[in-house]
Amino acid sequence: MNQSEIIEASKYIQDKITEKPEVGLILGSGLGVLGNEIENQITIPYTEIPHFPESTVAGHKGQLVAGILEGKQVIAMQGRFHYYEGYTMKQVTFPVRVMKHLGIDSLVVTNAAGGINESFNPGDLMIIEDHINNMGDNPLIGKNEDALGVRFPDMSKVYDREFIHHAQNCAKELGMTVQQGVYVGNPGPIYETPAEIRMLRSFGGDAVGMSTVPEVIVAGHAGMRVLGVSCISNMAAGILDQPLTHTEVIETTEKVREDFLKFVRKIIGTLPQ
Ligand code: 6GU
Repeated sequence: MNQSEIIEASKYIQDKITEKPEVGLILGSGLGVLGNEIENQITIPYTEIPHFPESTVAGHKGQLVAGILEGKQVIAMQGRFHYYEGYTMKQVTFPVRVMKHLGIDSLVVTNAAGGINESFNPGDLMIIEDHINNMGDNPLIGKNEDALGVRFPDMSKVYDREFIHHAQNCAKELGMTVQQGVYVGNPGPIYETPAEIRMLRSFGGDAVGMSTVPEVIVAGHAGMRVLGVSCISNMAAGILDQPLTHTEVIETTEKVREDFLKFVRKIIGTLPQ
């Protein structure tokens, strides 16, 4: 993943799109529907884009969707690359480097996550105020590309404060109750044990998932402003007396689809510059 690869991928995308994108979107499990609502859309399958990682999962919809959402020029990732699929951290975050190179300075990242905070309920939306990287790896290990960002990046405000405030206001205006909290990024693909969830709770985690943290680290390194939104798709292990399944994750994201779409649309339409 060097700079010439970022440039080649960006050039390929630039040749397909007509307008300069302002906002990048990463759509999580079950949340890809937002991509379908983009107007004047141009779709680019990941398989076509030079140096994009090759998808390992059959039937996995992986494409960029460029176009207009709420009056803003956006590029959305419909499907992301997960660390648990075996991609390196650099591969997982390559699309974020490309977005930055396309001129995108604002990134909205979404995911489905398990609730650690016992006051949460499945179906809640959560504004991510901070994260804990529990993946045991990160995408900045190795030689630093000074043109992409500094060697030792500050992560103290990686989730943009003005964006958090903006998202809170959007929730208020829509009359929606939206949670706020700390997202823990775990490597997956296993869900956690109840003991691990108790540990993560005592560490200050409110929700846990298998994505987002790598992309946000790279976005922070690249100086992008980030907003994160989790859909609490299920309660994490040990809270309810029921097994965790991917089916429940998808079912819940389908149930909250309307709220999720309304919330993210409103956020994007009025996102501060
Ligand atoms: Cl409970 N854990 C993790 N790691 N990822 C999830 C989840 C739980 N629920 C949805 N995604």
